Amino acid sequence: MHFISQELEDYIEQHSEKEPELLAALNKETYQKILLPRMLSGHFQGRVLSMLAKLIRPLNILEIGTYTGYSALCLCEGMQENGTLHTIDIKEELIDFQRKHFDKSPWGKQIVQHLGEAVDIIPKLEVKFDLVFIDADKENYINYFNIILPKMNKGGIILSDNVLWSGKVLEPIHPNDISTKILVEYNALLKNDLRVETVLLPIRDGLTVSRVL
Ligand SMILES: C[S@@+](CC[C@H](N)C(=O)[O-])C[C@H]1O[C@@H](n2cnc3c(N)ncnc32)[C@H](O)[C@@H]1O
Repeated sequence: MHFISQELEDYIEQHSEKEPELLAALNKETYQKILLPRMLSGHFQGRVLSMLAKLIRPLNILEIGTYTGYSALCLCEGMQENGTLHTIDIKEELIDFQRKHFDKSPWGKQIVQHLGEAVDIIPKLEVKFDLVFIDADKENYINYFNIILPKMNKGGIILSDNVLWSGKVLEPIHPNDISTKILVEYNALLKNDLRVETVLLPIRDGLTVSRVL
């Protein structure tokens, strides 16, 4: 869903940083070869993620929902030189595609791919994170927040994607629509939880920035 006109979206993209060549190629190949290419963050949100990471300068990053690796590479742009990005996805068929593109980047050796259910993998990671990007199944957003929080460094940032869910968070919720129900609860939780301070940014499908206190 577009919250603003296509003309304004184009203007915003034209007046933001260019998409790096490596990412433009990954974007193109995802659209050519992989199912559901709209899941990829894309040029503008990718530049936002890169800028946030450059401001935060994280040592350890966790991404939940790798897909084809686009947002992982954007986040790596701001990672400290000796940093590590852990990224989790449940789809085995994406692993080689991700690795091919990771290895074309300067951060290939610093990116650790994890295959499986994120709720099972996160508790096993013995790492404290400075930056987390939640971008997988919406039904688990509250679970992700609860298992991540004890693994965050103070001042660390949790980014949550798709929190406006094409505007469905404002509409009556169909009883079978678990994703919208959880997202509405999740947005309220982030707003009210005294362990984080939160701003919800109307970027693409909604991107929340929560700072761990
Ligand atoms: C929206 S896509 C991620 C897009 C990517 N972050 C980007 O911006 O380019 C969501 C991904 O989460 C993965 N996923 C869904 N449920 C999952 C789960 N329970 N555990 C781990 N990964 C999951 C999907 O396979 C999919 O690749």
